[in-house]
Amino acid sequence: MDEVARQLRKPEGPAGLEMARRMNESNRALTDAALAALALDQGERLLEVGPGNATLTMPALAAHKQLYYTGLDYAPDMIAEAERLHVALVAAGRARFVQGVAEAMPFTDASFDRALSVNTLYFSPDPALALAEYARALRPGGILVLGVRAAAYMRQLPFTYTGFRLFEEADLVALLADGPWARVKILPFEEQMRTSAAGHVGPALSHIVVAIR
Ligand SMILES: C[S@@+](CC[C@H](N)C(=O)[O-])C[C@H]1O[C@@H](n2cnc3c(N)ncnc32)[C@H](O)[C@@H]1O
Repeated sequence: MDEVARQLRKPEGPAGLEMARRMNESNRALTDAALAALALDQGERLLEVGPGNATLTMPALAAHKQLYYTGLDYAPDMIAEAERLHVALVAAGRARFVQGVAEAMPFTDASFDRALSVNTLYFSPDPALALAEYARALRPGGILVLGVRAAAYMRQLPFTYTGFRLFEEADLVALLADGPWARVKILPFEEQMRTSAAGHVGPALSHIVVAIR
């Protein structure tokens, strides 16, 4: 697999830390849009799967004083880097970082009010199982938001030819159709990529999935 694809899939070592910093540039707008769709409120328990170094989501904790954040990532180097970067929030009991996989989340049922995941579903060995785990970990009425770059956009990037599962809107609709979701909507999100960190400069289309449990 291409080294860029490998580091996006599971950032590791110094190159993984650098890749996480580059993702903070290229994925900011999509993450902000996904956070806006989550409609966060004070006192909620937020799960993020695949946060990388979690720099893009931490501002949400400043905006919502009583928000409790859990970041789940299978990459040990991302867990260590997120704990290092956000040490004050961890010490204050506002954030914790847990190593584990989306397909077998180490949480009891209904542990969260909101769940978020951006640019992570492409790497799942079993997206339907991951979706079932989000549904299990969310309380009834909880909200899941996924930020997923559109397949047509992803195919323009030089590193997505291997190791990525790509999703058209219809694939996402089908993936959620079988789950215990009360309501699902998929919103288009378009941005102008201004940084070559994404491997592309120009318009980029993504899907924002909003699913109510
Ligand atoms: C491409 S990065 C995205 C990081 C950040 N969300 C962003 O958009 O910039 C994917 C992250 O998800 C993690 N990841 C990928 N698949 C995962 C899985 N099945 N379970 C847990 N973590 C996963 C990787 O280790 C990595 O930190």
